[in-house]
Formats: sequence, C-alpha cells, structure tokens
Amino acid sequence: MKKIQVKASKNYPVIIDSNLLNDSGNFIKETVSPLPAKVAVFCDDKVEPLYADKVEKSLKSSGFETFRFIFKNGEAQKHMGTITQMIEFLAQNDFTRKDLAVALGGGVTGDMTGFSAAIFKRGIRFVQIPTTLLAMVDSSVGGKTGCNLSSGKNLAGAFYQPELVICDTNCLETLSEKDFACGIAEAVKTAVIQDAELFEFFRKRITNKDSETLKQIIGKCVEIKANVVAQDEKEGGLRQILNFGHTLGHAIEKLSNYEITHGEAVSIGMAAITKAFVKLNKVNPALYDELISVLETNNLPVKHSYTKYELFTAALSDKKRNADSITVVYSPELGRAELLPMKLNDFENLISAAF
Ligand code: GLY
Repeated sequence: MKKIQVKASKNYPVIIDSNLLNDSGNFIKETVSPLPAKVAVFCDDKVEPLYADKVEKSLKSSGFETFRFIFKNGEAQKHMGTITQMIEFLAQNDFTRKDLAVALGGGVTGDMTGFSAAIFKRGIRFVQIPTTLLAMVDSSVGGKTGCNLSSGKNLAGAFYQPELVICDTNCLETLSEKDFACGIAEAVKTAVIQDAELFEFFRKRITNKDSETLKQIIGKCVEIKANVVAQDEKEGGLRQILNFGHTLGHAIEKLSNYEITHGEAVSIGMAAITKAFVKLNKVNPALYDELISVLETNNLPVKHSYTKYELFTAALSDKKRNADSITVVYSPELGRAELLPMKLNDFENLISAAF
C-alpha cells in the first residue's frame, strides 16, 4: 500500500492500493480522531449499487452508525439545491460536529460532500473515497470543494481538507472507457506541468486493466499535487499551475451545458491553449504535436466547435479572473509550467490564436 502525506492546514494521508474498500471502516477508525459516532455516506445513483453496501458494511463492523444519501449522477446535479438537501439530511439525522461525512464517488460527489461538510454547523470532518481515476489523481486531494452556479463552474465553494483519502484501484475496473479517459486527461495535465518522466507513460494507451501502472500513475500525481498544495494551499500563486487547460476547459464545459465532461474539456483546453502559445512563439510546435498525440492515443478529444467569441465570453466567468486581467497557464517545455497574467484584450487575442 502506498501512503502519501498531504501537509496543508490539515495533515492527512492518501492511501493507494487495490482492495481497500472492504477495510475502509478500519482505515477511518485508525485515522479520524476523536472517533465519530455517525458516518453519512454520500454517493450518486451510479456508484451506490456498486460500492455503497461494501463501504457501509465495513463502517458498521468498525462500530459506526451509518446513514446513506443518494443523488442523481452527473455534473448537472452539482448545484446549491443538492447541497441544501445534503446538509438538511445531516441535520435531520442529528449529526453533530463530532460526526463524519464520506464522499464515495467521483469529482462531483467529492466536491459537493466536501462543501457540505465545510458549511454544515460551520464544519464537520469528511473523508474522500474516490471511485474514478479523475478523482484519485486530482480532485480528491487538496481540499477544493464546491458546486456550480448558473453563472459558471465551481463559483461557490471552500478550501476544506479531508481527514483521509482512500484510493481503491479496484474501483477503476467498473469505469466506462470515457470516464476512464477523463482521468487520464488530468494525469496528462500533471505530467505536462511537473513531470516529463510521467508523460512517458501516456505515449501508449493506458486502460483500466493496467492496474500496476495505474497505481504508479496515481501515486505520482498525488505526490506532485501534495507538494504543490503544501506550498500554496489557497491558490495564491503556484497552485494555479494545476489549472493548465482549465480556463478554456471550464468555458467549454459550460458552453456544452456539461455534455462535454470535465476531463474531455480539460483535454480540449490543454490542446487549445498550447496551440495559442505555439502561435505566440512561446512553445515549440513539437510539444504541441506530442501533447495531441498522447491525448488522441488515450482516446481524448482535442477539438471543439465553439466560436472565439463564445469561448472568450464563457471564459470570463472563470473564478480566477480579476477585474481587468486573467492568469493563463502554459507549458514552455514538458514537465514545467508558467503563469502568465494578461489583460483581458490580450487574452481575447490569445483565444483567437487558438483557432
Ligand atoms: N484541480 C486543481 C486544483 O485542485 O488545484
């Protein structure tokens, strides 16, 4: 079992291995102190039939009283209405500040459970049990929680760290090819911005059957993220590199009404922003070609059908934008990222260069 310690405003372990769900109750008992009495498991209706019984059985045998809240699968559910239902559920079941929430699922579940935990009674503890590759390599680690507003992606939220993250790689076996590829997009992002060696893994197509390779990839991504978060938990500077491909990606997700998933949109966003920087002579065309090849090899999209105007307007709702400027992330060479603050009219020109 690989164990990586995240050192942020709260220190917590991320554990990575196969067959961890059956022992999730024990891991929680060993890590969460003082012990909670009640544990609420939050999951969507796709994950619930697969893993909820297993996790609840383990929690019960470790002596916890368990509760289960299920919501519909999909990014469209990631709004304040669902958050209200989640915290009402905690209130109706008399959860106190000593009790615990568990996010069992992908990025949407982790973000919403974390946000509910952050605001219920001004904060109860929570544990992440990510079941998708995207959540294991990125969203379950680092304490970004929240939900979408109709004005844009993740516009409501809090930095709120979990007590523990349990990555059971067996869960990846039930992912669809599309959901699996979305996780690869975030892992490729991590490689491009911080680790050229990691990038080598993706030159051939990774599948959800490559379990030993996946443990290495997840371990590397978590180590890199833990290192970035330790230096800049609240995204004042360095952490923004993790948004490579995300400013345009979030715009594409929103324009598609979330039909294009987060991972797919990040893939398209990385391709588009890199193309733009190639045109500005800040990135070697060979890097763009390598990126496109790796993304396509891994079944990820690199094109979209939106206009410059649509993309620019949607990107303006990005929460990282200031009144008259926005910080753009690009990679001048594999394994390295730069942050470039730019005026909005320069950003508009940059977007035009991506076409
Ligand atoms: N997903 C980017 C971050 O956690 O900062």
